[in-house]
Amino acid sequence: MTSVGEILAEATTRLMAAGVAEARLDARLLVGEALGISRESMFAFPEKPVDAAAVARVQALIDRRAAREPVSHILGRRGFWTLDLAVGPDILAPRPDSETVIEAVLATARPGPILDFGTGSGCLLLALLSEWPDAWGVGIDRNPGAARVAAANAAACGLGGRAFFVAGDWGRALIGRFAVIVANPPYIPTADIAGLDPEVARYEPRLALDGGADGLDCYRHLLPDIARLLAPGGVAALEVGAGQAGAVAGLAERAGLRVTERRRDLAGIERCVVAQHGA
Ligand SMILES: C[S@@+](CC[C@H](N)C(=O)[O-])C[C@H]1O[C@@H](n2cnc3c(N)ncnc32)[C@H](O)[C@@H]1O
Repeated sequence: MTSVGEILAEATTRLMAAGVAEARLDARLLVGEALGISRESMFAFPEKPVDAAAVARVQALIDRRAAREPVSHILGRRGFWTLDLAVGPDILAPRPDSETVIEAVLATARPGPILDFGTGSGCLLLALLSEWPDAWGVGIDRNPGAARVAAANAAACGLGGRAFFVAGDWGRALIGRFAVIVANPPYIPTADIAGLDPEVARYEPRLALDGGADGLDCYRHLLPDIARLLAPGGVAALEVGAGQAGAVAGLAERAGLRVTERRRDLAGIERCVVAQHGA
């Protein structure tokens, strides 16, 4: 019979051979999940025996990761801000970079109604609602499957009474005014998608990635709606791809907004364009 330590070493070697960047970490997460044991117990009791059924469970998960399926899709969840969110084939797994949008809003906006364009897992809206106990918000996604998962995430986080999700095309059907508008639209130039890591190119939904020829199509569609739907004194915070902040700031200004900040993520990349109504 094999042991926890042996199966962990084999899984790591297999993922390294498959070109997985964080092979050691991913092996630990997947072996822990398949065996139902914590990281601490994995290291404290490496000699613990593992039966054949458990070995098969580990292998099934490692096979999927070796085919470059992201860990978050395999586990069906991903942490964002302080929340544990369900993800799946309809959903872009939330990225730590997107927390820059949350930081920008918390630093500049006053709590009020929130609109989240391209909500996906609901991560941006739900993170803000978790910080602002009296606020409510609406998340829009073109993909009805995403809107369903976001609603389930809201309920699981205890935020279901303050978060509403709609399937729709950006702001076309919306009226009203929102104190905060956030968006992390698709921004990868179409021609670059095939060259992304297989975890993204093969498994993330194309609707969440494709930003058109120059990556900026969605900002062109969204910014006039943002200018129309942002309340006086409100704050809009848009995630952007590396190198896009200048172009998106220009589009925001052309839509009648005033750019107040281009906020960097932890890697020093300009990741979030913050705007308010022009003077
Ligand atoms: C980059 S993902 C962002 C998901 C999530 N907000 C996040 O930060 O992780 C972009 C999202 O926009 C949605 N989307 C794409 N085109 C759309 C459209 N025309 N109207 C509304 N949502 C759209 C996609 O389905 C996807 O969920």
